[in-house]
Amino acid sequence: MIKPHGSDTLNPLLVEDPGQRTALAAEAKQLPYLVLNSAAAANVVMLGAGYFNPLRGFMSKADALSVAGGMRTAGGLFWPVPVLNLTSDGHSIMPGSRIALRDPNIEGNPVIAIQEVAAVEELTNEEIDFITAKVYRTSDHQHPGVTTFASLGKFVVSGPIRVLNFSYFEQDFAGTFRTAGQIRNEIAQRGWQKVVAFQTRNPMHRAHEELCKMASEAVGADGVLIHMLLGKLKSGDIPAEARDAAIRKMVELYFPPNSVMIAGYGFDMLYAGPREAVLHALFRQNSGCTHLIVGRDHAGVGEYYGAFDAQAIFDEEVPPGALAIEIFRADHTAFSRKLNKVVMMRDVSDHTKEDFVLLSGTRVRAMLAAGEELPGEFARPEVAQILRDYYRSQAEKVA
Ligand code: ADX
Repeated sequence: MIKPHGSDTLNPLLVEDPGQRTALAAEAKQLPYLVLNSAAAANVVMLGAGYFNPLRGFMSKADALSVAGGMRTAGGLFWPVPVLNLTSDGHSIMPGSRIALRDPNIEGNPVIAIQEVAAVEELTNEEIDFITAKVYRTSDHQHPGVTTFASLGKFVVSGPIRVLNFSYFEQDFAGTFRTAGQIRNEIAQRGWQKVVAFQTRNPMHRAHEELCKMASEAVGADGVLIHMLLGKLKSGDIPAEARDAAIRKMVELYFPPNSVMIAGYGFDMLYAGPREAVLHALFRQNSGCTHLIVGRDHAGVGEYYGAFDAQAIFDEEVPPGALAIEIFRADHTAFSRKLNKVVMMRDVSDHTKEDFVLLSGTRVRAMLAAGEELPGEFARPEVAQILRDYYRSQAEKVA
């Protein structure tokens, strides 16, 4: 199987032994604590679940600046996005101490991890702008990722962590949340060698379904991992529960049996476009996948990124050999009225825009909110039904 990033074996930071976990949880109650922000808590879950292998904890300021600037830690490890524990409450944290990290997303803020504090360092405004300009390619505070980053605080609390649980993801998404190690094990059990991962934060429509099938066929894959984000999104994006149900229905009805594994990971969306695509590739490698689909406007938002910037970064900025996973570059995919099927635009040079059924995400959400039918060329009817039911239930809640 493909090796994890940066090490021969996967070393997740969850404390596996239940006895040790109980002892640590008891100790944590006596420790000074920090209530994390959601971004840091999501980092804890990713570190605990092995997705961020081989990191041992939160990055220092030097690592964060080096990763932002050139996608390497100060020690030379290839890494695309700083993994930070930022707080505005840095004065009370003592370097050299052990602190309990408390979960902001669960009532009562239970302890999620223990950190050995290596250092507490303050970022200047210029350094914050530098990081956002590099990672998000903008310092515009209208960008949802930049807005979030700028709200997290200026103090970088670095050092190794030991993780006690996976926050709300295990309970709320019991059938879907999986660790990188669990996915690796299931790939091995299924006997799959080549596995194509599909990253998604959206319900899957016919173009997405076909993308998975085309990519799988093109690389000769044994199976597809549909790997959905389960964490926080910007308002307006469809939440994980509805998306999960829609994806499961699509796979049940429209894919050959045993050709797809559905799983989710506990991370908040960054909307960092190209840099996030590289992070996506890295943690799919850690999950045992050999390929990642990167299509149009991958992990993008608004007009901040060119449609294929998230593919170009792999050619222009990721050094050869930095990652072992390969990218399947997908062109814009849509239903062709001429051919009566979903196609990749690069494969049909005789088409004009009018030959395709094209609906923006915004338009789809507006149609669903208005209770309108989605065209059959765009969405599978059973998937559309689940989404309509979700929108109706939301409308009833408000009424
Ligand atoms: S993402 O933020 O998680 O990337 P989304 O769930 O919309 O968003 O997309 C999942 C993957 O499908 C990404 O690789 C994206 O580039 C690709 N994709 C989505 N729609 C299309 C499309 N119509 N044509 C080509 N690629 C697409």
